[in-house]
Amino acid sequence: MSKKLLWLITLLVVLALSLAACGGGTTETVEPTVATEEEAAPAEEEAAPAEEEAAPAEEEAAPAEGAGQLEFFSWWTAGGEADGLNAMYDVFKQTYPDIEIVNATVAGGAGSNAKAVLATRMQAGDPPDSFQVHAGHELIDTWVVADKMEPVTFIFEENGWMDVYPSDVIDILSYEGEIWSVPVNIHRSNVLWYNPALFEENGLTAPTTFDEFFTVADALQEAGVTPLALGDNGIWASTHLFETVLLGVLGPDGYRGLWTGETDWNGAEVTTALETFARMLDYVNEDHAALSWDQAAQLVADGDAAMTIMGDWANGYFTSIDLAPGEGYGYAPSPDTTGTFMMLSDTFSLPQDAPHRDNAVKWLTLAGSKEGQDAFNPLKGSISPRSDSDRTLYDAYLQSAMDDFASNEITPSLAHGAAASEGWVTAFNDVMTLFVTDRDVAAAQAGMAQACVDAGVCTE
Ligand code: GAL
Repeated sequence: MSKKLLWLITLLVVLALSLAACGGGTTETVEPTVATEEEAAPAEEEAAPAEEEAAPAEEEAAPAEGAGQLEFFSWWTAGGEADGLNAMYDVFKQTYPDIEIVNATVAGGAGSNAKAVLATRMQAGDPPDSFQVHAGHELIDTWVVADKMEPVTFIFEENGWMDVYPSDVIDILSYEGEIWSVPVNIHRSNVLWYNPALFEENGLTAPTTFDEFFTVADALQEAGVTPLALGDNGIWASTHLFETVLLGVLGPDGYRGLWTGETDWNGAEVTTALETFARMLDYVNEDHAALSWDQAAQLVADGDAAMTIMGDWANGYFTSIDLAPGEGYGYAPSPDTTGTFMMLSDTFSLPQDAPHRDNAVKWLTLAGSKEGQDAFNPLKGSISPRSDSDRTLYDAYLQSAMDDFASNEITPSLAHGAAASEGWVTAFNDVMTLFVTDRDVAAAQAGMAQACVDAGVCTE
């Protein structure tokens, strides 16, 4: 074939191809057999897109590997707490739509039921991918020292979180040079929530001291209103109420010393705290042992009781039933604890042998992020431990909690795992179970002193 003819055929082929491209021509127009060599080029070009097609296929394969499940274990089923968790799931699903979230919740405030189920699973070598656990002794003593967890220090480092989380918070998550969990919030336990309309109708103001509390409680009782709502179908709610009384009577230093052996469990102040607590029980709803914490909060919302002392997940509950802080409900530090913030923190963990470890790491990365926390905490009723969280997303109560957390004395919650090991908390709960029924101050005090000894913190 002459060069001229070849050139001409090539020209025709190119023309035919471009016509096909512009005008929807068919491949028949490029069929001259003589053009085989030239066709080879487009054919190779076609091969290229074919490879490109292979690339997206591989890209699809990647999410498929990252797909599968994420089983997250918690006890958040009540209004507010469940909403917060769902909001975080929503943010996660936007980034990882292929990962199926298995929401393994076991109802029961403060994890009263969930922790037993979790312990059974962990012992059987059947961990979830991640679970909710309180910062402090609950995390470290129960799981880390027992060698059940993987450190998450690498997640902090990879995401630049060492500068964003307060060192005090990192400290209570650390053991032997590693960080063991991702903190998702800061809660306050020592809050008195009240029904403003009932107070106004009875010409009362929210009490800030025990003296004021009992004066107000008497007035309410005379007016036929249940003064204090309690829902201790999980005994932790009584322990919770009592920890706020201990703080009010002993003050922050005395209270902290209870967990280090510096404050005497047999001392007069603990006796006073037990007597004060017993007196408070005279003002609670009769059916307290049948109710949960959120049912007790509902009594206040409905005006069937005037006050309840509960952690600020109650703020999440009240907002979940469309009450506004300062209007539908009021709040104040529990009696004689103004200036102290009794804190606890919910964290998310990485158990050893998590079945979908990569997904767990993705979850933890989201849970510790600004975006994840600012979706979760305003609904949960907690504040973010991150120094860069967006204050404007938080309601008036939560903004006041932010200010108090920054300026108050901080003490660790007993009922929610920050102050003492789980064994100690369980022993304490057992004492409370008896005490709410028999009100035997001496027996309770002896039981509490013994629990400190058994925990290895106090000497006989
Ligand atoms: C606490 C937990 C809170 C809230 C509360 C009631 O122990 O830290 O996040 O869930 O129990 O369930």
